[in-house]
Amino acid sequence: RREGPLVGLRVLVTSGPTHEPIDPVRVLANRSSGRQGHAIAAAAARAGAEVTLVSGPVSITDPKDVTVVRVETAREMLEAVERSLPADIGVFAAAVADWRTDGAPQKLKKGGGGPPALSLVENPDILATVAGRADRPRLLVGFAAETENVVAHAKEKLARKGCDLIVANDVSPASGVMGGEANTVHLVSADGVESWPAMSKGAVAEELVERFAASLGRPA
Ligand code: C5P
Repeated sequence: RREGPLVGLRVLVTSGPTHEPIDPVRVLANRSSGRQGHAIAAAAARAGAEVTLVSGPVSITDPKDVTVVRVETAREMLEAVERSLPADIGVFAAAVADWRTDGAPQKLKKGGGGPPALSLVENPDILATVAGRADRPRLLVGFAAETENVVAHAKEKLARKGCDLIVANDVSPASGVMGGEANTVHLVSADGVESWPAMSKGAVAEELVERFAASLGRPA
């Protein structure tokens, strides 16, 4: 029997990178570990929610008491997310590849012709797509991984993506956030900006889940 401030609510979380095939053996990828998204899914489950985690390729273990759907590409992630709706809360922590290539059917070979030209195609924006749906989650949370002007970019993203909250973090190499255990986040919403001190990704997840409960009128 579940108990906690999110009992009876459905939470959908995306996490990890996506991998976009270049050919059958190569991918376009990014350095997301999935740690922050997975920690949020785990914290939401501990708070009593029914949690679905749609995860790109990661090497960390599945969170407890969570339904995990594994995908590779952005388009697969969008499909899995749409199949997992409706949800009361959507937390889009995945580092979705902005672009994919056409994906060659056979392994690209070195040859006299020089390196292949990769032509990039824009991927669907999963968060913006969900924000525009009739069954949009009541609380929709996006992430903004930036290497500069973190808060300014997050404010712009809040408006453009149509979400209620952006959790912004600095992922410049010096920050050690990508792949690391700790995170320093800024919460950007219509109410303004709130900057949290550096914390473990687990602690960030716990605090965020408390926020989610409070903002849906469910104080702990
Ligand atoms: O535009 P940018 O990629 O910086 O936006 C980040 C936010 O949008 C994250 O919440 C991410 O999960 C989400 N996103 C998405 N689909 C994309 C790109 C980003 O859901 N194709």
